[in-house]
Amino acid sequence: MGIDTPGVVALLGSHSVGRTHCVKLVHRLYPEVDPALNPDHVPHMLKKCFDPIPDPKAVQYVRNDRGTPMKLDNNYYLNILDSKGLLQVDHDLANDPRTRSYVKKMAKSQDYFFQHFARAIALLSENNPLTGDQGEIRRHCNVANKHHSEE
Ligand code: HEM
Repeated sequence: MGIDTPGVVALLGSHSVGRTHCVKLVHRLYPEVDPALNPDHVPHMLKKCFDPIPDPKAVQYVRNDRGTPMKLDNNYYLNILDSKGLLQVDHDLANDPRTRSYVKKMAKSQDYFFQHFARAIALLSENNPLTGDQGEIRRHCNVANKHHSEE
């Protein structure tokens, strides 16, 4: 898509908002806590995800950024440098030699983050979008809608 490394690092900054469901996290907590996690962050995660096999019907989650959970800002980068990234991909972004220097720059400068985020999100949204009757808007985001005649 033509998105370069700082672009990818900036896109993952979206994980500055929203939440992660416990089903996506429990493998980092049970049977043993992932030693890569900041120990200060673990009690909160354990409190929110108290069940090693979360009830699929219960809405159990941890906020991605406890500091400013509803704001797209560069706090995400400070969190992941402090080993408070919830997902493996967040942790890896801060530790992979290919991405770490950009993470540090974005942690230092919100302007630098926004500049790359704006550029990358435009490329992402303009890449081969389906228009008219191509494709479908899913009713449930993880499965294709059934064709009408099959319903
Ligand atoms: C390597 C790439 C990525 C991976 C592996 C990844 C993975 C995930 C996972 C597992 C969740 C948790 C979902 C849940 O528990 O409900 C999540 C949430 C989220 N992701 Fe990503 N993601 C990636 C890239 C992106 C990008 C590029 C964006 C936007 C430009 C993005 C935006 C979000 C947002 C906003 C949430 C929170 C959703 C909510 O609160 O409902 N992610 N991501």
